Amino acid sequence: MTETTGAATVPLIETAGIGKSYGGVVALRDVSTVVRAGEVTCVLGDNGAGKSTLIKILAGVHQHDSGELRLDGEAVRLSSPREALDRGIATVYQDLAVVPLMSVWRNFVLGSEPTRGPLRLLDRKQAHDITRKALVDMGIEISDLEQPVGTLSGGQRQCVAIARAVHYGAKVLILDEPTAALGVKQAGVVLRYVVQARDRGLGVVLITHNPHHAYPVGDRFLLLKRGAQLGSYEKSEIDLPELTRQMAGGAELEALQHELERVQP
Ligand SMILES: Nc1ncnc2c1ncn2[C@@H]1O[C@H](COP(=O)(O)OP(=O)(O)OP(=O)(O)O)[C@@H](O)[C@H]1O
Ligand SMILES: [Mg+2]
Repeated sequence: MTETTGAATVPLIETAGIGKSYGGVVALRDVSTVVRAGEVTCVLGDNGAGKSTLIKILAGVHQHDSGELRLDGEAVRLSSPREALDRGIATVYQDLAVVPLMSVWRNFVLGSEPTRGPLRLLDRKQAHDITRKALVDMGIEISDLEQPVGTLSGGQRQCVAIARAVHYGAKVLILDEPTAALGVKQAGVVLRYVVQARDRGLGVVLITHNPHHAYPVGDRFLLLKRGAQLGSYEKSEIDLPELTRQMAGGAELEALQHELERVQP
């Protein structure tokens, strides 16, 4: 008997012609994409393209006002971030929603603290152990779990947030510009954990400005421009040069090349 292939299964998330306006501003119109288990869907676009608006709809922060959002094939409207989380959608924002002065382990168990005794006191040892084990499990090295999260590098913080989503059983992991503020080496490390989350069967949504970060790890690419869908491709349908060209847009790319030539010594 043949197993059902990935392509034949119902996507974890599907947006069908989704749209959203803020007052008179159309932030998103007619956007269709899918997020599948064990795949990375990349959302690419310049400033103001609508990337964050799209993920805020998936994360229950905003509601779409046209089109359909389907989770496991069922049309839904997510009314709060809690509801999205309960349905297995974990979102890591650029500021990470962590408490910078709290220790790494305290942040890790935040909202799911293990307790002990009838008074349900925080079980610090167990919390520490949970964090240690989850990080080791993902191959993430942080020597001192007592250190405040604010003292970790940006890349380390992203890695801890990814490990946290994996540990608490997220089905979908949404990352909003996880590599934007990072150098090449740290960006590479974060992308390695994106791949690990994917290989564990999560559906990952990776938002980025950078096609060089998206292409090596992405399975499908959604390009947005001023709220509209510029293109939607599976990896086999597009290569990196073409993805880069589409992102920049023909005329804009030529202008950029011209400018680069002008400033070359
Ligand atoms: N809360 C809001 N109220 C009004 N307009 C908004 C709001 N949030 C976003 N917008 C507008 O919607 C459009 C899309 O914004 P969005 O933040 O989704 O873009 P983005 O692709 O995430 O951009 P960036 O790369 O700068 O993060 C922009 O024109 C923006 O000004
Ligand atoms: Mg944004």
